[in-house]
Amino acid sequence: MKRDPQPAVPSAAFDLAAWSAHQLGLVEQALSDWVAHDAPAGLGDAMRYAVLDGGKRLRPLLVLAAAQAVGGHEQAALRAACAVEIIHAYSLVHDDMPCMDNDVLRRGKPTVHVKFGEAGALLAGDALQALAFELLAPEGDEVPAAVQARLCRLLARAAGHEGMAGGQAIDLASVGKALTEDELRQMHRLKTGALLKGSVLMGAACGQVDPAALAKLDDYGAAIGLAFQVVDDILDVTADSATLGKTAGKDAANDKPTYVSLMGLDNSRAHARELLQRAHAALDASGLADTAALRALASMVVDRHN
Ligand code: IPE
Ligand code: IPE
Ligand code: MG
Ligand code: MG
Ligand code: MG
Repeated sequence: MKRDPQPAVPSAAFDLAAWSAHQLGLVEQALSDWVAHDAPAGLGDAMRYAVLDGGKRLRPLLVLAAAQAVGGHEQAALRAACAVEIIHAYSLVHDDMPCMDNDVLRRGKPTVHVKFGEAGALLAGDALQALAFELLAPEGDEVPAAVQARLCRLLARAAGHEGMAGGQAIDLASVGKALTEDELRQMHRLKTGALLKGSVLMGAACGQVDPAALAKLDDYGAAIGLAFQVVDDILDVTADSATLGKTAGKDAANDKPTYVSLMGLDNSRAHARELLQRAHAALDASGLADTAALRALASMVVDRHN
């Protein structure tokens, strides 16, 4: 719903930690309730291991913050928040496999294929992807059918060949190559940006928002989506494995083109800040009243240490 433009809320006035703690309480409980207690032959154990106990949960927070900004349907937003996190968790399981980045540490624990074997990791990812869509389409009238359909479409787009999976294909095809900035931006937009922007749009799809405000939320999502992967590239070089909960220095070891390899650390940091300003400007121009959480989450994306 569009409202009269409001003065930007200074992020100091918004307590992100308290807001996040409340939202994450709901998300963790829902994930624990919804992720495969009874899957056969150890599959459920691998799925729960991949999803529970770890991760910053940025994507669910973006869904819930965007839903809040548009006065969205709360139960739909919680389902969307969990669905996008489950897709993200599946993408990490596959990203870490020996055929992709070959990583042994994720969220401070051995990766899923190390713990459950390669076939176990492959199937856990497959089953998580299916579960995400099942959660978006509950039986009964808890979530209006039109909202269910919109959420499924947005998540499918963000996760599929025009989004995360397409970006991962470019990533693997780019090993050892020097990409141009345009090519690198396109890879990052797809492999990481699409799911982050999708989170924002899914939150917005839980409520009513006019096209002009939606376009600004889209700009916001695109800016933080790209900023997120620029910062991921920076942290791969500057942070240690204990802080990251995943192996540091893997991009250079795997000969991946990154923002740091293309433009160096200082320019990458400056670019991330530029993208943050772009995200904040988009919120200011949206005319939406309650954007404090989205604003603070954008700052968190750029200022994070893990
Ligand atoms: C890591 O994502 C993978 C990328 C898309 C770069 P996150 O940094 O959000 O990972 P978790 O969810 O906190 O573990
Ligand atoms: C992964 O990008 C993006 C995904 C779709 C999972 P990275 O390969 O850079 O993520 P990390 O650094 O392993 O978390
Ligand atoms: Mg990767
Ligand atoms: Mg990786
Ligand atoms: Mg990385």
